[in-house]
Amino acid sequence: MSLLGSAPKRVDVYEVGPRDGLQNELRTLATADKARLIEALINSGMKRIEVSSFVSPRWIPQLADAEKLIALLPRRDDVTFTALVPNLKGLERAKAAGLQEAAVFLSVTESHSRKNINKSVAEAISTAREVAEGARKSGMKVRCYLSTVWGCPYEGLTPVGKVVEVVKQLADIGFYQLSLGDTIGVGTPTQTAELVTEIGKVLPLPQIALHLHDTRGTALANALIGLSMGITTFDSSIGGLGGCPYAPGAAGNLATEDLVYMLNGMGVQTGIDLNRLVEAGELAQELIGRKLSGKYLQAALGEREKQASRARNERVVS
Ligand code: HMG
Ligand code: MG
Repeated sequence: MSLLGSAPKRVDVYEVGPRDGLQNELRTLATADKARLIEALINSGMKRIEVSSFVSPRWIPQLADAEKLIALLPRRDDVTFTALVPNLKGLERAKAAGLQEAAVFLSVTESHSRKNINKSVAEAISTAREVAEGARKSGMKVRCYLSTVWGCPYEGLTPVGKVVEVVKQLADIGFYQLSLGDTIGVGTPTQTAELVTEIGKVLPLPQIALHLHDTRGTALANALIGLSMGITTFDSSIGGLGGCPYAPGAAGNLATEDLVYMLNGMGVQTGIDLNRLVEAGELAQELIGRKLSGKYLQAALGEREKQASRARNERVVS
C-alpha cells in the first residue's frame, strides 16, 4: 500500500510523561518516585525524555521540584533530558540544573496564550526568541512547542493559515525541532495532512514533531498520517498520561506503548523494548494510583493477570 510504503524506517519517540503527564495529575508524586519512573523509561531504551518544567511553581505546583529531580537522575551520554522553559528566569534554573536542552513553548491562539503563560502571542514569540538565543549561547539545544495548532479550548478550530503565519515568525529563532501540539486532541487525519503539507512548506519535515493528545481517540490515526508523510519524531506519554491544566478538556497524550506497538508491527524501528515499556507503565500506574488510559498497557497487564490466575488454578488442581 503506497501510504505505508513511504513511511520512514526509523522514528524518534520523545517521552513527555514525566512533564506533560505529571503536570496534570492532582496527586503530586514524590521526587524519588518521579526519578524511579524516569529510570524505568530509560531502561526501556528511551533516549529523549522531558523530565519536568522550569515554570512558575505557583502555576504548576506538581513540577516545583525540577532541580531536585534532575539532581537525582543518572547522567548518560546516550540519553537527553529536557524541560519546559518559559522565560529567562526558567533558563537560568535549567542551566544551573545542568540541562543540555531547553523546550520553549507558545500557542497559536491568543486566548490559550494568555491563560497558559499570561502573554500575547507576539510577546510569547519574542520571549521564545530571547530564551532560545540565551540557551544556544550557553551551548544548549532548543526545542520549540506550538500549542493549539489543531484547535483551541477557547477559540475552536484553528485556521491552518494562522498556524503557518506563527510558524513563519518562529522559523528563525534557532530551534532544532518544532513540535506541533494538538493540545486538546481534536485533530482528524485530513486536518493533520493539511497541516503537515502547509507547515512542511516552511520547515523541513525532519524538523517537525507531532505532539498529539488523545482526547477523542484520534491521536494514533493522526500519527499514522504524519508517519506516512515523512514525520520522524512523535511525542508520547507513558500510559497515556497528560494534559494542559490551562486547556480545559485536554486529556492524555498518545500513549507511548500504543505508538511503539503500532510502529513495531509496521517494522519501523524505535530502539524501545515494549515489554520494558509495559513495566514502566505499570510503575506509573502504581505511583499515580489509578488505571491509566493506554490501551496496549491495559491489554498487556490483563494478559499477564490471566496467565497468573491460570497458573494459580493449575497449582490448586495439582
Ligand atoms: P507571570 O505570573 O505572568 O510571571 O507568569 P511574572 O514574570 O509576572 O512573575 C510572577 C512570579 O513568578 C514572580 O515571583 C517570578 O519570580 C515568578 P514573585 O516575585 O511574585 O515571587 N516566576 C518564576 N518562578 C520560577 N520559575 C520561572 C518563573 N517565572 C516567573 N520560570 C509564567 C508567567 C510564564 C511564569 C507562568 O504563566 C507560567 O509558569 N506558566 C506555565 C504554565 C504551564 O506550565 N502550562 C503547561 C505547559 S504547556 C503545555 O502543556 C502544552 C504542551 O504540552 C504542548 C501541547 O500539548 O500543545 C507543551
Ligand atoms: Mg501537551
